[in-house]
Amino acid sequence: MTASTQWQLARDSAKRYQTVLTPAILGPFARALVEFASPQKGEWIVDVGCGTGAAARYAAEAVGSTGKIAAVDMNASMIDVARSLPVVAGAPIEWHVALATDLPLDDQSVDVALCAQTLQFLPEKQLSLIEMQRVVKEDGHVAVSLWTPIEDNPYFYTLVETMARHVGVETAVGLKAAFALTDAAEIYNLLQESGFGQIEMQETQLDLLMPELTDFVPRHIQATPMATGFNQASKAIQQTVIREVAEKLNRYAENGRIQIPFRSHMILCKK
Ligand SMILES: C[S@@+](CC[C@H](N)C(=O)[O-])C[C@H]1O[C@@H](n2cnc3c(N)ncnc32)[C@H](O)[C@@H]1O
Repeated sequence: MTASTQWQLARDSAKRYQTVLTPAILGPFARALVEFASPQKGEWIVDVGCGTGAAARYAAEAVGSTGKIAAVDMNASMIDVARSLPVVAGAPIEWHVALATDLPLDDQSVDVALCAQTLQFLPEKQLSLIEMQRVVKEDGHVAVSLWTPIEDNPYFYTLVETMARHVGVETAVGLKAAFALTDAAEIYNLLQESGFGQIEMQETQLDLLMPELTDFVPRHIQATPMATGFNQASKAIQQTVIREVAEKLNRYAENGRIQIPFRSHMILCKK
């Protein structure tokens, strides 16, 4: 497991993750996961692999000031950026640099564990899921989001395919790793083998209004583990990647706006 396939970003990239990727794509999906998990007022939540904390902040609003949020990520740069953001109304959020296999929480201390677009990157998936069960109360649940196959996600598919062709597969893997766990049967088996008795899965599609792509694509690349390989390519190749991605996705443009479908599994599991 490399730093690239575990989505390890340095401080500048973590900032770009928050300013570029979160508003456009990850934020809306973090909100959708919180809505799917439907936490109640006063509940305690942990956000596992919180990144810059999109799901933690939506959960803080949902549970209100009587609730409590713990947000955990192994990447100190992500946590630094999360801590630097304005405090949201609602529950206080405690930020922790820790591994998903070693959550800094007592047994049965939270009502809901959220894991938003992170399980696919965890090297020890089963151990991490068992750890989430340890911290969740007997009647609590674990809510996980994972992209459906990359072919269902035309923005990511086009970017990965174009990057692989012009820059190299070893660079494209920095984004393709987000699609390492997409098969519904494989996910179900993993959850069952990790000890969950009840597993409810659905697919959620969000048609997201995207920023202008020739501007967004290069900024997005810089917020991913693809940045190093892309930056080593010539300016001409970089421009080709950006132009081709924008041209191919132009089929989603209408009346000067570009709205692209993104699809994710939303999964609710109980012990
Ligand atoms: C694609 S980001 C998702 C972040 C956030 N949940 C969101 O929806 O924006 C994946 C996150 O998983 C974290 N991560 C990867 N492996 C981890 C591990 N073993 N323990 C904790 N966090 C991990 C990364 O540092 C990264 O912040």
